[in-house]
Amino acid sequence: MEDRFITSSKNWTDAEIENSLRPTSLSQYVGQEKVKQSMEVYIKAAKTRKDALDHVLLYGPPGLGKTTLAHIIANELGSQFKVTSGPAIEHAADLAAILTNLGKNDVLFIDEIHRLNKSVEEILYPAMEDFALDFIVGKGPSAKNMRLKIQPFTLIGATTKAGMLTGPLRDRFGVICRLELYEPSELQEIIERSAKILNIEIDHQASLDIAKRSRGTPRIANRLLKRVRDYAEVMGSGKITKSITDEALAKMEIDDLGLDFIDRKILDSIIHKFGGGPVGLETLAATISEDSGTIEDVYEPYLLQLGFIARTPRGRVAMENAYRHLGLPVPENK
Ligand SMILES: Nc1ncnc2c1ncn2[C@@H]1O[C@H](COP(=O)(O)OP(=O)(O)OP(=O)(O)O)[C@@H](O)[C@H]1O
Ligand SMILES: [Mg+2]
Repeated sequence: MEDRFITSSKNWTDAEIENSLRPTSLSQYVGQEKVKQSMEVYIKAAKTRKDALDHVLLYGPPGLGKTTLAHIIANELGSQFKVTSGPAIEHAADLAAILTNLGKNDVLFIDEIHRLNKSVEEILYPAMEDFALDFIVGKGPSAKNMRLKIQPFTLIGATTKAGMLTGPLRDRFGVICRLELYEPSELQEIIERSAKILNIEIDHQASLDIAKRSRGTPRIANRLLKRVRDYAEVMGSGKITKSITDEALAKMEIDDLGLDFIDRKILDSIIHKFGGGPVGLETLAATISEDSGTIEDVYEPYLLQLGFIARTPRGRVAMENAYRHLGLPVPENK
C-alpha cells in the first residue's frame, strides 16, 4: 500500500514507534470499556482457577488496538505470548509444530485469522476444543486415527473481517469482542499519553483538535501527532498549539472531521457520478481507482459512523449529512 496519510493500516514508520506507545496493561488501555470490563473478569477467573483463558476473538477495523489488547491479555495473565498470522502459516504441519511447542496456559496470537487456509484451520478445531491434534497414520484399510495431547492454551485471533471467518472456527471462540471506534475524548487521552512518552509539548486544545480528526482510530491519532510535531518543530517553537495543528492539518488536506481527499472522492463520486447512489462497492472502487477492500475496511467504517453513507442491499448511498458537509444542496429525496 502506498504511504498515504490517513490509512489506518500500518506503514513502516509506525512500526518503530508503535511499540513504544503500546499500553502494556489493561489500566493503560484507553476506552473500550465494555471489552475491558469483561476481559478483566475472565482473566481473574482463569488465573484463580489456574486454567487457560477461553479462546478470544478480537475484531474491528484496523488500528483500533487488537494486537495491543492481545499483548495486554497475555501480560495480565502472566503468560508467554507467541505470535503468528494467518497468511504466515502455509502448511498444517507448521501450525501443528507451533501448537506442540506451546507451554501450559500460553497465549497464541494469530493475526489476520480469517486468512488461514482450510487444511490449516482444521488442525485448530480439535486443538481449541480438546487441546489435541488428530492425525491419520497409514493408508487404506489399515489407516488409524491418532490423537496427540497438547498443553492447554489460549488462542487469541484478530481480524478486520469477522464475516470471513468460517462458522466452525468462530464457534470455537468462547469470548468474542468487537472493538468500536473511539470517542474524541478517549483519543485525546491517548494523544496526551503518547505526547508524554515522546516528550512532545502539546496543549489541551490541540490534542482535542487532533483527536477529532483521527477518525475514531488510535493509530491515526498517534500518526497525526507525529506529523504535527514535525510541523511544529520546523515552523514554530516545537510546542504543539491549536493554530499550529490547524495549519499542519490543512497542509495535509485533512478537514475538520478528519476526511482526506480519498473520502471526498468517494462521496463526490457517489453523489455526482451515481446520482447519490445506490452504487455497488466494486463499481465505486473502479470509478475512483481504489481497492475495494481498502474502501470497505479503511474508509467506510468512519463514513458510516458519521452517517455520510449508508449500506443498502443495492449498494452504497450518500446521505443528507454528506451533502451538507461538502456544501452541496440536499436533494429532495434525502
Ligand atoms: N486503547 C488504546 N489505548 C492506547 N493506545 C492504543 C489503544 N489502542 C490502540 N492504541 C495505539 O494504536 C496503535 C495501533 O494499535 P494496534 O496495532 O493494536 O491495532 P490493530 O487493531 O491490531 O490494527 P491492525 O488491524 O492493523 O492489526 C498501538 O500501537 C497503540 O499505540
Ligand atoms: Mg494488529
